[in-house]
Amino acid sequence: MSLFQHILSVLPPEVAHNVRMRLMGFAGMLPTGHRWMKLLNAPKGNELHREVFGLAFRNPIGVAAGFDPNGNRINELGAMGFGFVEIGSVTPRRHPGTPRPRLKRLKKVVKETANTPSFIDNSGYPSQGLEHVLGNVRKRRKHTKELVIGCNISKMTSTHPEDITKDYLRVFRNMYQYVDFFVINIACNTSTKPFEPRTEEEIRAILDPLFEFRRGQPDYCPILLKVSPDLTKDELDMVIDILIETPLDGIEAVAGSTQMAEKMGIANGAISGALLTERAIETVRYIAERTEHNYPIIGSGGMMTPEDVKRMLEAGASLVALNSGLRQNGMRLLKKAAKGLTTQPKPETTP
Ligand SMILES: Cc1cc2nc3c(=O)[nH]c(=O)nc-3n(C[C@H](O)[C@H](O)[C@H](O)COP(=O)(O)O)c2cc1C
Repeated sequence: MSLFQHILSVLPPEVAHNVRMRLMGFAGMLPTGHRWMKLLNAPKGNELHREVFGLAFRNPIGVAAGFDPNGNRINELGAMGFGFVEIGSVTPRRHPGTPRPRLKRLKKVVKETANTPSFIDNSGYPSQGLEHVLGNVRKRRKHTKELVIGCNISKMTSTHPEDITKDYLRVFRNMYQYVDFFVINIACNTSTKPFEPRTEEEIRAILDPLFEFRRGQPDYCPILLKVSPDLTKDELDMVIDILIETPLDGIEAVAGSTQMAEKMGIANGAISGALLTERAIETVRYIAERTEHNYPIIGSGGMMTPEDVKRMLEAGASLVALNSGLRQNGMRLLKKAAKGLTTQPKPETTP
């Protein structure tokens, strides 16, 4: 662990993240800042280039929602060499989330988890809101040609169940021409335990208006659905059926787990990080096998090491999104993971 990462690891996790993002912004303002970021962090070569849902990704490793929720650091993350960044969750209006502190290291609450670095996220997905994010994306888009930008959309916690569709549609319509793909987050997690769409009718009620809007557009923007790791097998099968039967383009699996938190006696929040790795990989493997590897999947959840990223891709993910891994191990996880994907294992030597 670098000295910088060590210093961050003793700060409260949300403070540590804000320090990192501010420093990134400061470095980005220096005349040669972007060049240094590229030199120090970006994977070399174009071996990892791939086409997924019609978009060209320079590598399959991206940043998950919640890391740069308002799109403030798109330029810097692009300079660092990520294949994509998923901004958001974006909400139609400013969404304060839950009061601080809202992100904790799990080991501070459950000591036995010290060897599996994980977080309890009770942020409630704060967002500066559509106008702010739109301003950032419009301003920055032209400087980040190689970076694929995804927009994750959530509803406001306060939105009445009958108006949820309007929340998603409003952000979708306004962001449509400025981003490359969308992730519809139905795996909400806030302390207030909001309505979580789980039945086919509820999910279709959100997706159908988006498909309809897209049909009238000159450009095609892929739509993915982000799912919770806590779905029952029947619920996950139902989501896969929606993927197969509708114009949905793919699935992102998984968000943080509230079920794991509840089992540890934590009433509010979702577990992310190392405790989630196996469940995330197995969920992706299940979706890939049931769809015969015919649909793109973004694998997210507990991607802490280069080995995790490799296993996630082997399980059937087309792309991998990092969040807790970057918080815990720093931005160089990208370069290390990319190296892990290009380096062939040494052939076994026979005695
Ligand atoms: C602090 C924090 C904020 C998050 N915010 C969002 C969000 O706004 N929208 C969303 O879909 N997921 C959000 N997530 C979930 C992550 O995108 C990711 O799916 C989850 O944390 C599992 O991945 P990880 O183990 O790599 O963190 C957030 C996670 C954390 C830790």
